[in-house]
Amino acid sequence: MSDSLAAIILAAGRGKRMRSKLPKVLHPVCEVPLVAHVVRLALARGCSPVVVVIDPQGVRTRELLTALFPEASLVFAIQREQRGTGDAARAGLEAIADFRGRVLLLAADVPLLRSKTVARLEKKAKHASAVVLTTRVEDPTGYGRIVRDGKVVKRIVEHADASKEERSIDEINSGVYLFDSALLRRAVLSLNASNAQGEFYLTDVVEMAALEGLAAAVETTDTDECRGVNTRAQLAQAEVALRGRLIAAWQDKGVTFVDPTNTFVGMDVKIGKDATIGVGVQLWGHTKVGAGAVIHGPSVIRDSEVGSHTEVHSFSHLQGTVVGKGAQIGPYARLRPEAKLSDGVKVGNFVEIKKSHIGAGAKVNHLSYVGDASVGAGSNVGAGTITCNYDGQAKHRTVLAEGVFIGSNTTLVAPVTLGRGAYVAAGSTVTKAVPADALAFGRSRQVNREGYAQSMRQRQKQQAPKKSRG
Ligand code: UD1
Ligand code: CA
Repeated sequence: MSDSLAAIILAAGRGKRMRSKLPKVLHPVCEVPLVAHVVRLALARGCSPVVVVIDPQGVRTRELLTALFPEASLVFAIQREQRGTGDAARAGLEAIADFRGRVLLLAADVPLLRSKTVARLEKKAKHASAVVLTTRVEDPTGYGRIVRDGKVVKRIVEHADASKEERSIDEINSGVYLFDSALLRRAVLSLNASNAQGEFYLTDVVEMAALEGLAAAVETTDTDECRGVNTRAQLAQAEVALRGRLIAAWQDKGVTFVDPTNTFVGMDVKIGKDATIGVGVQLWGHTKVGAGAVIHGPSVIRDSEVGSHTEVHSFSHLQGTVVGKGAQIGPYARLRPEAKLSDGVKVGNFVEIKKSHIGAGAKVNHLSYVGDASVGAGSNVGAGTITCNYDGQAKHRTVLAEGVFIGSNTTLVAPVTLGRGAYVAAGSTVTKAVPADALAFGRSRQVNREGYAQSMRQRQKQQAPKKSRG
């Protein structure tokens, strides 16, 4: 037998029990669609080709997987009618008619299967032409049961077809198999649908191998791995299980989670040593949190980098952002796509920053909007500063050189530049360039009228109507 390993992933069918317009296999677990977890695993095992069996309406599944794995050149096979798992496997095999070797068969609704478990199946397959992954569960209702004679695997009986005695077997079929391609090709053509569900059962291939003395099983004690997702409740259980697994792996690498059950960490997130992730933190997408950083919850960070020893305070929202080392962010900061904050920056409450670079050590501490701007290192942007970047048609840039001081409640009307060390008086509206080290004063001068307030009050008193008696 050759060393080549193909994968066939069964993803046809609507998944009626989800009661959804979205095909079941596209429902996400930890951000990633169910079927994509399985494709990822097949690719991680080096399977080639990887075949995904879809139904004629499975265009969305195909488009989504092609977009998620652009380099994988996945093969899509269409199963015209859902006539059972054996028929789906046949459709998959037909798409790779020339393939010889071993075939990893996976159901698209089993997202928690581990790579190291598949490795165990691969090892076992050296001495068997059919290997099935099994586990023992407290309630085996609905699953296929593993019928053994002593230790030897004889066949798999579906719940619907099982006798009372067989139903008491607690060892179940996970729906994950490794087959020799020659056996599988022969077997799927000889399957019949004379069973309780009138379907072509893939499980019957195991019985055919057993007759030749070539069936084997690998048992896992991690029942989560074999969990199939058929309902919304099972989807949520898979989410909790996978998230717990991801967080446990980060804990092993030296990350503190204050409340793991109230934390979301995506599959592609990276977290440095000694980082602390607080209560209600959500780390999505390709987020990276540096060593020793502290993220207080609730905060949402998506596709962003947070430098080492930076502190993100509660109620902050970061998306598509890069924050340097030793920075202080929030509480209540909103960092939008293409905000780049250098080391030691301070961004305070109710500050929104978009598509802007904030230089090292600069401060934007309160109630500001900074968009399409560059703020030089060491600058101070006063409370309530607004960059007026949009004129109703186009966006314009605001450029502050190093060490600029912007007084509170200033509007910077872009395009505008402020030279190194420039100073803007509070309450200014800046519409033209400010030279280096100049003071810009963009508001009318204050006028004081001595005694005016006092005489005004006296006039008001005289004009007030007298209170009449009786
Ligand atoms: C199957 C197994 C059962 C096992 C269980 C584990 C069979 C006959 N039974 O049952 O022994 O314990 O999985 O979860 O195989 N699919 C197709 N085309 C079809 C039918 C199914 O592509 O015509 C796909 C589904 O999209 C799904 C997978 O195959 O991803 C499994 O099918 P499902 O109907 O969920 O099988 P179970 O009844 O759960
Ligand atoms: Ca299932």
